[in-house]
Amino acid sequence: MYTHLQLRDSARPPVTLSTLHKMREDGEPIACLTCYDASFAALLDEADVDVVLVGDSLGMVIQGHDTTVPVTVDNVIYHCKAVSRGLHRPFLVADLPFMSYPSREQALTNSVRLMQEGGARMIKLESGAEQIRIVEFLASHDIAVCAHLGLKPQSVHKTGGFRVQGREQDAATKMIQNARDLQAAGADIVLLECIPAELGKAITQALEVPVIGIGAGGDTNGQILVLYDILDITTGRKPRFVKDFMAGAGTPLAAIKAYVKDVKARGYPAAEHNF
Ligand code: KIV
Repeated sequence: MYTHLQLRDSARPPVTLSTLHKMREDGEPIACLTCYDASFAALLDEADVDVVLVGDSLGMVIQGHDTTVPVTVDNVIYHCKAVSRGLHRPFLVADLPFMSYPSREQALTNSVRLMQEGGARMIKLESGAEQIRIVEFLASHDIAVCAHLGLKPQSVHKTGGFRVQGREQDAATKMIQNARDLQAAGADIVLLECIPAELGKAITQALEVPVIGIGAGGDTNGQILVLYDILDITTGRKPRFVKDFMAGAGTPLAAIKAYVKDVKARGYPAAEHNF
């Protein structure tokens, strides 16, 4: 069982949204990773990862698809249940997959499933101006929400591929406004994927909620990477922001600990990982 809040008086209290806000205020970088099963979840817990995401990247790294589009709510719940069995301290977030939130009602129904069946504490959805009403609706039902901006993998067939977003001034200005609007709508965390480091910094400075980046530069309040990328398990071409922490580590646990240490010390990302 994911004991999380039951352990709040223990020597290793669980990470909550308040913890993440405090870390942002104190300038302590938030170390986040994706995870898909109980064994790795136990290692992430032991390595003191703060936030664990059951991402729809599972469609690519677990199921072998070339995009996240085929992933279903049932798939995310299956992996979320497994991950939650391995966790005690980290804050567990789960992705709403492709087309599981076309309306406010469907977003609410599927978020409730991820929380009640999967054990997630927060849901994440790929967001833009079109999702503001959905975020507002979920927040009004006291669901903790992470809004995902920048590269949105669920939209790759529409946008033309996995590309850096927000390079042009217009797009950057729009993304800053979207982030502000999503925060005002009730988003508790904003995640930025694959954008120029300068834009990552501008959005982080414009917001009061914690901002987590993946390929968004070193000035966000935290970093997230796909677990299999840092363990060098992923095959094929790797994005520029990926760092192999398995090199020289010896064991997966040592590699995960090295990632957490590097994020906390602001050693990762380095200039070579930024756009
Ligand atoms: O699905 C996922 O793993 C994600 C991360 C890339 C942030 O959304």
